Amino acid sequence: MVKQFLFEDRDSLFNALALACERHLSKALSTQGQASFMVSGGDTPAPLYQALSHSDLDWTNTHVALVDERWVDKDHEASNEALIHRCLLINEATQAPFTGMKTTAETALEGCAESEENYRQLPKPFTVSILGMGNDGHTASLFPHAQGLNEALAEDNDQLIAAINAHESEVTGPNTERMTLTLNGLLNSKRLIILLTGEEKLAVFKQALGDGDVEDMPIRAILRQNKAPVELYWAP
Ligand code: 6PG
Repeated sequence: MVKQFLFEDRDSLFNALALACERHLSKALSTQGQASFMVSGGDTPAPLYQALSHSDLDWTNTHVALVDERWVDKDHEASNEALIHRCLLINEATQAPFTGMKTTAETALEGCAESEENYRQLPKPFTVSILGMGNDGHTASLFPHAQGLNEALAEDNDQLIAAINAHESEVTGPNTERMTLTLNGLLNSKRLIILLTGEEKLAVFKQALGDGDVEDMPIRAILRQNKAPVELYWAP
């Protein structure tokens, strides 16, 4: 069962979601002394990150880490790490410890192996994980029929991070190689928040809620599990 928060406009959506994230992170900070905020890339979440960058949370104990990364240099415009540095890790949030996925290895597979240990050290369960979704039904970098998808979704895969090579499409552009939290990595979250804008994505989301294969729309793996509560935040 996905709890759905549907807003009339994007300002209301981002204000409400920033407050909800602050509330969840503050609660973890006061009960556990630390929190983990897992962040996706893409265009949609930028206003959320900008709003949170001004929050007076105890950022020094709030670990910020990527949900997924594209196989590009850190200073590339498509880099998710660059996005987080541009939008979130500014103002008050500059003090947050940040964990990215390493794109300096020879291959994405090696990059995953090199990043795994750092992810194991993050506070668990992750306090809040922000997910997006593409019109092809991918979430994080779990792309339909991608090379590495089955392994990333496998129930017995206890790695937190996996390498993915997606089919080139309008959604991926040329950056088909990715590193992503595995399904088990994602389900290690106290709450998974799917953040979407626009009517088209809402229609795709509704389709994902219906019958059909996970390989066709990998976000279904998130929608069909019952380990981690899922919330949808949407505005037109
Ligand atoms: C990424 C992501 C990805 C993203 C969706 C939606 O690196 O691309 O983490 O899963 O959330 O592709 O992207 P938009 O918000 O740009 O539509």
